Amino acid sequence: MIPFTYYNPTKLIFGKGQIKELATNLKEFGDKVLLVYGGGSVVKSGLYDQIINIFKENQIEWKELAGVEPNPRVSTAREGIKLCRENNINVILAVGGGSVIDCTKLISAGVQYNGDPWDIVLGKYVPTNALPFGTILTLAATGSEMNSGSVITNWETKEKYGWGSPLVYPKFSILDPVNTFTVPLNQTVYGMVDIMAHVFEQYFHNVENSEVQDGFCETILKTVIHTAPNLIKDLNCYESRETILFSGTLALNRMLSMGIIGDWATHNIEHAVSAVHDIPHGGGLAIIFPKWMRHVRNANISKFKRFAINVFNVDANGKTDDEIALEGIQKLEDFFKSIGAPSRLADYEINEDSIDLLSEKAMARGSIGQFRNLTMEDVKTILKSCL
Ligand code: NZQ
Ligand code: ZN
Repeated sequence: MIPFTYYNPTKLIFGKGQIKELATNLKEFGDKVLLVYGGGSVVKSGLYDQIINIFKENQIEWKELAGVEPNPRVSTAREGIKLCRENNINVILAVGGGSVIDCTKLISAGVQYNGDPWDIVLGKYVPTNALPFGTILTLAATGSEMNSGSVITNWETKEKYGWGSPLVYPKFSILDPVNTFTVPLNQTVYGMVDIMAHVFEQYFHNVENSEVQDGFCETILKTVIHTAPNLIKDLNCYESRETILFSGTLALNRMLSMGIIGDWATHNIEHAVSAVHDIPHGGGLAIIFPKWMRHVRNANISKFKRFAINVFNVDANGKTDDEIALEGIQKLEDFFKSIGAPSRLADYEINEDSIDLLSEKAMARGSIGQFRNLTMEDVKTILKSCL
């Protein structure tokens, strides 16, 4: 392992009915709330009404920022910052998926900064202060509910980048599996792919003596693979929703990164694709991850062999390490297909014309990949194999 410090101050409030904890936790930080949500799913599901009733019963004043888009935009964060300043907001509540939470993180840090919040995303300004915020998660996927990262799109420049700060860990996150019942099939699938992708990013590393971390990773992967078929058959299955919700948080609260260095090249490539083509993050990952695996497997074939055997029960008898590794990757592709995830960029009408631009965008902030460092040619080859 490499030396590490682990810090995660988010209070996780998990389980059925835990919305009862909202008022107390919110009031610890303020009573003038900016309520941030997306395109209306929380209104349709009834969660919005529940929250407003809690606000009214507890003398909590609120303003609203509605309409945060999937792949949230810096322009929306600018609106939120303005609302916070005009209304002396002292705490923010994000209700939604990763996009709503990520946008809230930028609002929280941006309120305290007089310049443009895009500077924060680009790392030109490092936040020194942030408004406190809590979250009510409605979609299992990103782990944003218990991490300090945020991914923001600048639609004008067609850029999408992650940024982070220890100041933007949610103060608390309420996770009730029931709030994820209404997530439609396609978003449910993208979410499960994203969760697995986060595990892959942290599983494929070259640090030695990581048996505990690798075992955690394999457990989460096997759990998602085992649970997914039940969940897509019955979107209202409480146990399946609960398992996936818990998996999503553990996959990216950085627990799996203790003592190792994750890869993250595939996420960089996918962010470039969704910056330009505005596709769902999990959809992009389902296409790119298996191709990345094929491309880089020889950097550490024994890790891919272990993956094939431990996660997909590949029978190693009489096979070379490479055959075993390739069988594991094939089984992953078969699994993604079986749950209805996309497998080609053509599924999103993305063709060869985009490859150069996407590769440049993926590498715009320097080299990518820790398991194997990728050149521009590598990225182009991977993307071409995704067509
Ligand atoms: O906008 P609404 O109407 O709420 O609908 C959303 C949206 O259309 C819908 N949805 C969410 N909860 C629902 C629901 N529909 C019905 N019932 C519910 N309970 O789902 C759609 C997608 O929502 P979104 O928040 O965009 O999805 P997700 O959670 O997958 O977030 C994706 C964003 O997070 C970034 C991605 O790049 C992308 O921008 N990521 C953030 C990370 C982080 N902060 O740590 C890490 C990830 O790797 C990822 O990059
Ligand atoms: Zn992701």
